[in-house]
Amino acid sequence: MCGIIGYIGKEQALPLLMEGLRRESYRGYDSSGVVVFGLEPVCVKAVGKLESLEQKVTDIYPKGTIGLGHSRWATHGGVTEANAHPHADCKQNIFLVHNGIIENYQVLKEKLKAKGHTFLSETDTEVLPHLVEHFFQGNLEEAVRKALQYVRGSYGIAVIAKEDPGKIVAARVSSPLVFSVNGSGGFVASDPSALISHSNKMVFLDDGEIAVIKESTFEVFDLQRNLKKKEVTELEWTLEEAQKGGYEHFMLKEIMEQPESIENSIRGRILAEEGRARLGGLAEVEKSLREVQGLNIIACGTSLNAGLVGEYMLEEYAGIPVDVDFASEFRYRKPIIDKDTASLFISQSGETADTLASLKEVKEKGGLALGIVNAVGSSITRETDAGVYNHAGPEIGVASTKAFTSQLAVLSLLTLLLGRQRQLSLVMGQRIAKEIARVPELVSQILSKASSVEALAQKYKGFENFLYIGRKYNYPVALEGALKLKEISYVHAEGYGAGEMKHGPIALIDENFPTIAICPSDSVYEKMISNIQEIKARNGKVIAIATEGDEGIKSIADDVFYIPKTLEMLTPLLSVIPLQLFAYYMGVLRGYDVDKPRNLAKSVTVE
Ligand code: G6P
Repeated sequence: MCGIIGYIGKEQALPLLMEGLRRESYRGYDSSGVVVFGLEPVCVKAVGKLESLEQKVTDIYPKGTIGLGHSRWATHGGVTEANAHPHADCKQNIFLVHNGIIENYQVLKEKLKAKGHTFLSETDTEVLPHLVEHFFQGNLEEAVRKALQYVRGSYGIAVIAKEDPGKIVAARVSSPLVFSVNGSGGFVASDPSALISHSNKMVFLDDGEIAVIKESTFEVFDLQRNLKKKEVTELEWTLEEAQKGGYEHFMLKEIMEQPESIENSIRGRILAEEGRARLGGLAEVEKSLREVQGLNIIACGTSLNAGLVGEYMLEEYAGIPVDVDFASEFRYRKPIIDKDTASLFISQSGETADTLASLKEVKEKGGLALGIVNAVGSSITRETDAGVYNHAGPEIGVASTKAFTSQLAVLSLLTLLLGRQRQLSLVMGQRIAKEIARVPELVSQILSKASSVEALAQKYKGFENFLYIGRKYNYPVALEGALKLKEISYVHAEGYGAGEMKHGPIALIDENFPTIAICPSDSVYEKMISNIQEIKARNGKVIAIATEGDEGIKSIADDVFYIPKTLEMLTPLLSVIPLQLFAYYMGVLRGYDVDKPRNLAKSVTVE
C-alpha cells in the first residue's frame, strides 16, 4: 500500500529516489520522505502531495549516493510529518522505511522504552530502527536478522546505517520487495514500476529472506543466515503494465490480490483461542458497545451491500437488531438515535458526501458513531468516535472489489467482538475465528479458476439482461453481483432476494434473460433450488454458484461454478469472487474500459 525506494551507487541518490516515488505514486499516499547519506544523513519529510516533498528537497538538496524514499499511506498514526518514513534510531545511525503492519509493536515499544529508547512518532514502524539499533554491533544485516526474530506481522523493509555504509539491507514477510543491481547501481523498491526505467532484470524477494544490496553485487540469505540462490527475472513490462502488476487492468489486479488484502484486514485481529476479535480502533468504546441495544449501518453502493451482509452476521451471532440504510435516505429520514443505538458508517474512501452527511446527523443527535473505512485519515475517520480500518490498500479500479471483501472480513470480526460480549458461545466463537483465518486460502482456490469464469462470460456476453438471486447472506451478494455487472459492462442486471422473485421479476424470465443464482449448501439451499426450478420452468437459463460436492445442481442449472465449503456467514466472501470476475470479463469482452466506467466516480463527494 505504501511505496519504498532505495538506491546505492555512484550517482546522486536524491533525483533517483524522487523519480521512484513519483512512479509509485499511482498507488495513493498521504505523506512522503527521503533520507540521503552524505557527510551526515539528511532526512526530509512532507505531508500531502509529492510536490510538497519536492519543494522541500529542492531547497535543501541533500547530497549523497545512498538513500531511501517512502510514500506513506497511513495505518497506525495520523497523517503527520513525524509519522512519515524514513524512521531512525536514537543515534540517527539507522534509517528504515517499511510497508506492512507490525502487530506486536506496542509490546516491543514498551520494552524498548524501558531500555531508554525515545520514540518520536505514533507509528508501528518506528520500533524497527530501534530494535535494529539494539542489536547493532557494526554489521547491519546481522542486526536486522536478529531484530526480525522478535517481530510479528507483515513487512517489506529497506534499511541503511551510517556506521555500516555501502549497503542497503532489505527484508520481507507478506509485503512485496524487488531489487535490481546493474551497471548504474543497486535499487530496491516495493513495486517493479519504480525500477523499470533503470533495469528490467529484477530479483523478487520471498518471505523470510534478507537481501544485502551493494553498488554492483547482492546476496540473499534466509533468517538462519543460509545463502540463497536467487533467480533474476527479466520483465518485459511497460511502466503502465508494471503498475498493474502485469495485469491488464487495475480491477483484475485488485480482484486477484484479495487473498492478500483479506489477510491484511484480519492479520493480528483474531484471538482464536478466546474465539474473539481484537479491534484496536474500538478499544476505547468497547464498554459502550457492550451496552448497545441496536445498530444502524449506513453506507452507499458496494459498501452498503457489505453492510447488508453485516446485518445478517450481527443479528445471527451477536443478537443485535440491525437496520441498514442508504446514506442518501438515512440523512433525510428521521432516524431514531438514542443512547442505546450505535451507528456504523462503512466507506472505502471515507469521503462519500451522503455518508458523511448522515454521520454529521448522528453526531448532531448525540449518537455513538463508528466507522469501517479503508482510507486512513479521511473525513469519516476524523468524524467518527471510533472505528476499524480495512487495511485493504489503495483501490484504484472504480468498481469496488477488494474493499468489499475487506469490509466483509472486518464485519465478521466485529460480529465476533460484539457476539462474545453477548450471546455467542466460546466454542462457536472459536469456530468462526478459525474459519475467518481460512478465508484468504479459500479465495485463492476460487481465483485459480478464473479462466472458467472467463469462459462463462464468453458464453453469455451477448445477453442484455441478467437477474441475480440469492437468499439470506447471499441476498446482498446478488445485489453486489448485479451492481458490478451494471457498472462495468453496462448490461442491465437486477439483484433480488430469491423469494421475492415471484412478486415481479419472474415476469421477465424467458430464454433471453439469464439468472445467476447464488446457492451454496446452506440453511436456505432447498428454497433456492425451488426458485431455480421456477426459472427453469419458464425456459430461463441459470448459472449457479454452488458449493463443491453439490453434484445434484448440475442437473438443474445450465452452468455451475463451485466455491469451497465454509461457514454460512462467510459464504459471501467466496461467492462474490466469481461475480466480480464475471462482471470484469463481460466488460472486457464487450470492449469497455473497466477501470474507468462511464458516468461513475471512485469517490462521490457531491450529493
Ligand atoms: C461510488 C463508487 C462505488 C462505492 C460507492 C461508495 O459510487 O463508485 O464503488 O461503493 O461510491 O463509496 P465509499 O467510498 O463510501 O465506499
